[in-house]
Amino acid sequence: MMNSEEILKLEVRLLCEGIRSVYGYDFSDYSEASFLRRCKLWLSNSGFSSFSEAQSRVLRDPVTFESLLHGITVNVTEMFRDPDFFMVLRQKIIPYLQTYPFIKIWLAGCSTGEEAYSMAILLHEAGMQGRYRIYATDINERVLQQAKDGIFPIWQMQSYSQSYQAAGGTACFSDYYTEAYGHTIFMPELKKDLIFSQHNLLIDAEPGEMNLILCRNVLIYFKPEMKDRCIALFNRALVSGGFLCLGSQESLSTRELFSLYEKFAPHRSIYRKKYANASTSELPCTRHYRSARRGVGA
Ligand SMILES: C[S@@+](CC[C@H](N)C(=O)[O-])C[C@H]1O[C@@H](n2cnc3c(N)ncnc32)[C@H](O)[C@@H]1O
Repeated sequence: MMNSEEILKLEVRLLCEGIRSVYGYDFSDYSEASFLRRCKLWLSNSGFSSFSEAQSRVLRDPVTFESLLHGITVNVTEMFRDPDFFMVLRQKIIPYLQTYPFIKIWLAGCSTGEEAYSMAILLHEAGMQGRYRIYATDINERVLQQAKDGIFPIWQMQSYSQSYQAAGGTACFSDYYTEAYGHTIFMPELKKDLIFSQHNLLIDAEPGEMNLILCRNVLIYFKPEMKDRCIALFNRALVSGGFLCLGSQESLSTRELFSLYEKFAPHRSIYRKKYANASTSELPCTRHYRSARRGVGA
């Protein structure tokens, strides 16, 4: 006879099989312990007494499915999260990117958009308006809607302002938003080159020709083979010489590092994709820089 924990795991497995057939999402790719914990948390707030009881509603009603999806994905995020990471972006990576006439950035697993607005502020301060596009994606439609709105609670602004300064920001942070009804609305200009869209890292194809990819605090929730799939996806999406940034608890394997990337910043999971002929790794940026300068000066 199975004990109640084993029955619960069986119910979750059956529910996941149903979800895969109906909605195409495969949660067997998430690491089991944290996935189960999130499922139980969702169940305790859902009003259903068991996963078996929830099953038919989840499978027949997309709104209930969306609430489950929202419950099992961890959406914690903040502006200028890990300020020293944003300092490296500001001081070391953006100066490279500025040498290109136009750059494309992919933020995979962007949650409610704080990371995307932080990036837009950095590019704005680097004077790159009109020369970049940020593709910010997430599996969860609900958080994406919040990200598109660009409205954040005012009580968060004090700590975001501190992180902005710790990341090297010198402007007045409150210049970037207006206040209304206890919330803040970020400048429309920051939104202009931000494209938010739904994308599932585990099944969807990658966008192309990215100069910079951030996928921070997402891969930790995946099983190792799915992490490998994502790294391969990023590698196809990234141009040679492009940058891949992972979360502080995520890293590339030594094999990937040896063959495809070089570590760009010590103590940070920031990598630079090697050129096929590694000895020419500095050339393309130099070339863009020179032609950009020629375009202006000659
Ligand atoms: C902890 S948040 C990280 C947010 C942000 N990158 C940061 O570091 O602050 C993880 C995000 O990954 C998203 N996510 C989870 N599984 C995903 C998948 N298969 N494809 C795309 N995004 C996914 C979640 O919805 C969530 O918004």
